[in-house]
Amino acid sequence: MSAVLKVAITGCGVIGRMHAVALQQFPEADVVALIDTVPAAADSLADLMEESGRPKPSTHLTIGDALAAADIDLVVLATPSGLHIQQALEVLGAGKHVVIEKPLDVDLSRAQEIEAAAKEAAGRGVFASVISQHRFDRGSVAVANAVAKGRFGRLTSAIASVAWWRGQGYYDSGDWRGKWAMDGGGALMNQGVHTVDLLLWFMGRPVEIHAHTALLAHERIEVEDTAVATVTFENGGLAVLHATTAAYPGLTVRVQLMGSEGSAVLDNDQLQYFHARDAGTASADMGLQGGGNQTIEELSKYPDEDYEAMDPTVYPGGHIRQYRDILDAISEGRQPGVTISDAVNALATVRAVYVSATLNQAVLFNEVLSGRYNDLEVRTGPSSTAGVS
Ligand SMILES: NC(=O)c1ccc[n+]([C@@H]2O[C@H](COP(=O)([O-])OP(=O)(O)OC[C@H]3O[C@@H](n4cnc5c(N)ncnc54)[C@H](O)[C@@H]3O)[C@@H](O)[C@H]2O)c1
Repeated sequence: MSAVLKVAITGCGVIGRMHAVALQQFPEADVVALIDTVPAAADSLADLMEESGRPKPSTHLTIGDALAAADIDLVVLATPSGLHIQQALEVLGAGKHVVIEKPLDVDLSRAQEIEAAAKEAAGRGVFASVISQHRFDRGSVAVANAVAKGRFGRLTSAIASVAWWRGQGYYDSGDWRGKWAMDGGGALMNQGVHTVDLLLWFMGRPVEIHAHTALLAHERIEVEDTAVATVTFENGGLAVLHATTAAYPGLTVRVQLMGSEGSAVLDNDQLQYFHARDAGTASADMGLQGGGNQTIEELSKYPDEDYEAMDPTVYPGGHIRQYRDILDAISEGRQPGVTISDAVNALATVRAVYVSATLNQAVLFNEVLSGRYNDLEVRTGPSSTAGVS
């Protein structure tokens, strides 16, 4: 492999462009090729990159064309979610590293195929990772480290909520949006999967999921715009999961984590509240009720320079921080921090929500993972028939 990692970006839409911006921060990576089935999408991004002073990447219609024409080490997949696995298998098969946008795919059994392929490829020094940029936010890192050290005591419960608004125009903007086949689900799958990943990162492995979904404020889509679920975890903790694109004008993404020795709240990726008994002085037998916020002291352990990335004015800070890990991992010959298995577990949790809502009964996470419901055609819950008046 060359000293400078040669990167191809597949899918030059909204998020593909962000990958191009994020990768421009790294002298050790060069975007040399852009791939899109719509030539104008790749061409306009290539022009944009040239205007920003970088060498103009070549443009291609398919990954195969790009691999045949250019020397490439890493392929980024920023295509519609339903294409991720098929394209990732092609990339790993060609012996190239792959970074896959979230969600891993729309189909759990196919996602498990890539899990096996990624394990085999890692043995050859070829690595796969999935974007989950919020794991790299400073607040999330502070919470995950506190969990790992047991500073919150026994984790008793969590609330994870994505309360966003997406207008009808968003769903009408791409024919893959809002369709089971290519979007894989609605508010929970598309907008909420990051938050599901954070919830699992903090709470561990789910045991049982009971969910309801509905389509309440949009039309001409198949998937839910509102999902709620309860989740039990192997550690005994309980959680409430909520995702919606029907909360006008859009509220925040919030994860509350509560334990017998401490609690934390992340709101829109910022650590809003942190309290661990081991750092506190107040006696709290009757509860501090939100007092004793140690956020400032806790965040000071994670210096700005590591978390503001190289250029704080660049928007995709989470992507940049995750690329720091991915590029370091590739150069050190190790697996990047976010594994395909992490993404499979997040996907299986989302799938469990859809299975539970369809069957109107609780389902076991392990049974969803083991393929018991693979043939079930999931649908949006009973309220979908209400639609919009
Ligand atoms: N990490 C995040 O926060 C985040 C945010 C937005 C989107 N995403 C994910 O990124 C992916 C793309 O979303 P988007 O909003 O950029 O979509 P988009 O529709 O804006 O872009 C997708 C691009 O892929 C191209 N494409 C379609 N089929 C292709 C193929 N076979 N080969 C090559 N190119 C092809 C399309 O022409 C389009 O340019 C989705 O999986 C989405 O869930 C992640």
